[in-house]
Amino acid sequence: MTAQESFVKDFVAVVNERQSIRKYDPNFSISKEELEEILEIAGKAPSAWNLQHWHFLVIHGKEAQQRLLPIAYNQQQIVDASAVVVVLGDLEANRNTDAVYDPLVQAGHMTREIKETLAQQIVGAYENKQYARDAALINASLAAMQLMLAATAKGFGTCPIGGFNAEKLMEEFQIPKRYVPVMLITVGKSIAPAHNSLRLPVESTTTWVEK
Ligand SMILES: Cc1cc2nc3c(=O)[nH]c(=O)nc-3n(C[C@H](O)[C@H](O)[C@H](O)COP(=O)(O)O)c2cc1C
Repeated sequence: MTAQESFVKDFVAVVNERQSIRKYDPNFSISKEELEEILEIAGKAPSAWNLQHWHFLVIHGKEAQQRLLPIAYNQQQIVDASAVVVVLGDLEANRNTDAVYDPLVQAGHMTREIKETLAQQIVGAYENKQYARDAALINASLAAMQLMLAATAKGFGTCPIGGFNAEKLMEEFQIPKRYVPVMLITVGKSIAPAHNSLRLPVESTTTWVEK
């Protein structure tokens, strides 16, 4: 098998293995270092202008997970998982412009003029509040997906959770208004297989334009 073939096989195996795990070993713990490795991989997701519109609020401790439990409508996996990552979208990701581009300019990978052109495009885009919100949700979702695949590749189970009260979450964990909660992701040691889930056939989810 070539390196390319083995990568494809490994990648597809991870994708197939990822399923929404809802039963976790409540006594299993994942270290902060392991979680950081997963978050680092998640953060390699692409983003518009590379503004990296995500922020991860890591709920990593039984007391904090208990506080989250009622906010997520008492879904037991919140407390049984080893950690819950609250994926937040950044409504003000335009503020990252200098942090993202200045090191590239300093290293000679980008001219100051190109940086200024990009910066102006970003300023223009962020005058539109709807764009800012859409961008936060779209780009943070890409990181969320990558987070789940990274955790799966490392042998952990995950589940994306949209069933939570966003307002109460913001209040309980004092999340600044700069961020919008996108989803929660439980991470832990699976102790029961996922529910069966099917996918619609590609023919029904795809339209081709070939000429
Ligand atoms: C945005 C989003 C919100 C979801 N919310 C919940 C949830 O609140 N509780 C839950 O148990 N599963 C939740 N799920 C998991 C879905 O039910 C699951 O992804 C789907 O049934 C497909 O199954 P699979 O992930 O095992 O392939 C959510 C998934 C997504 C992407």
